[in-house]
Amino acid sequence: MERSLQEILQSYNDRSPLEEASTIPASWYVDERVAALERQFVFGGTWQVVARAEQVPESGQFVTTELAGEPLVVVRGADGQLRGFYNVCRHHAATVVTEASGTASIFRCPYHGWSYGLEGALKGAPEFEGVCNFDRGQNGLVPVQVAAWEQFVFVNLDERGAPLAEFLGGLAGRVAPLNLSQVHFFERRTYTLNCNWKVFVDNYLDGGYHVPHLHKALNSVLDYKQYTIENEDRYCLQSSPMVASEVDAATSATRQGERAWYFWQYPNFMINLYAGYMDTNLVLPDGVDRCKVIFDFYFDNVSEAAAEKNRQSIAVGERVNDEDVGICESVQRGLHSRAYQAGRLSVRREAGEHLFHRLLAEDLKRGM
Ligand code: FES
Ligand SMILES: [Fe+2]
Repeated sequence: MERSLQEILQSYNDRSPLEEASTIPASWYVDERVAALERQFVFGGTWQVVARAEQVPESGQFVTTELAGEPLVVVRGADGQLRGFYNVCRHHAATVVTEASGTASIFRCPYHGWSYGLEGALKGAPEFEGVCNFDRGQNGLVPVQVAAWEQFVFVNLDERGAPLAEFLGGLAGRVAPLNLSQVHFFERRTYTLNCNWKVFVDNYLDGGYHVPHLHKALNSVLDYKQYTIENEDRYCLQSSPMVASEVDAATSATRQGERAWYFWQYPNFMINLYAGYMDTNLVLPDGVDRCKVIFDFYFDNVSEAAAEKNRQSIAVGERVNDEDVGICESVQRGLHSRAYQAGRLSVRREAGEHLFHRLLAEDLKRGM
């Protein structure tokens, strides 16, 4: 008999201390009902990165995206304010803004020509004379919460969600001294993985546990024994001192500095820093067995002269990612096996996963 969603959620004990804890059960990674609940209460109920601030610095600049199945548009108004709206026409629900990004002074729906101002108000509805009880003032684009932090623009579909600063908690203070504004966007690469989105996050949060086994080149520049893992609020910081190495020239040339910094913010956003380098990872579910990971690469020097070095650095990142993709897909196959229910966690290494699983359980149980 199929287990109820309630039973599946209750099969994880989120009160166990790390020494006694197990991972969330395999069913959470393969059950469509869990994925649907996540869509509503995790992706549809937390602050989610939807754009880079450098895409919308000027009045009229906009970016469109989709979050938890919802079409959205983020735009900087004539007053300089950043706003977000559901990109859904109030007439018959067509997508109003169809470009991925651009500049506009008004949004005009391609279907019947209704137009909206950048602050969302309905400005024009052709041939609508004589329509009774129709209040233009009540038919603007529906707003969503939007806020920016560092280079990132976030949206929260939950209108009662706490402010972004509260959601990020200690992360902001921890990141501030690292001066993210020193690096500038260079390139985006998107990868599709045949695994549940949480498998990718777990892999990221294992405290370097897999690094010596899976990433030999990367491991050579990290002081693995000194690798630290700190949990606070909804973020985990993994960090390692860096060492000189001759194992892999490309890695040594592009992964430099005193320390490597790896930040994860619940549920699906990562910031990875080396000297003069940052990449961010945004992990998005695409069904229960698939996910998309968007990597944005930033460098201190994004001039033409530095382009080749930057591409070499991206290639190093890509090799690490390839190694992760293979293992994540193998984990997803294993999670489907009747032989596997859940696994234990290394106290030394896997505190980040424990935090992730407890935060997720809290959101899903509240959703139920
Ligand atoms: S659906 Fe947009 S104008 Fe009709
Ligand atoms: Fe990895």
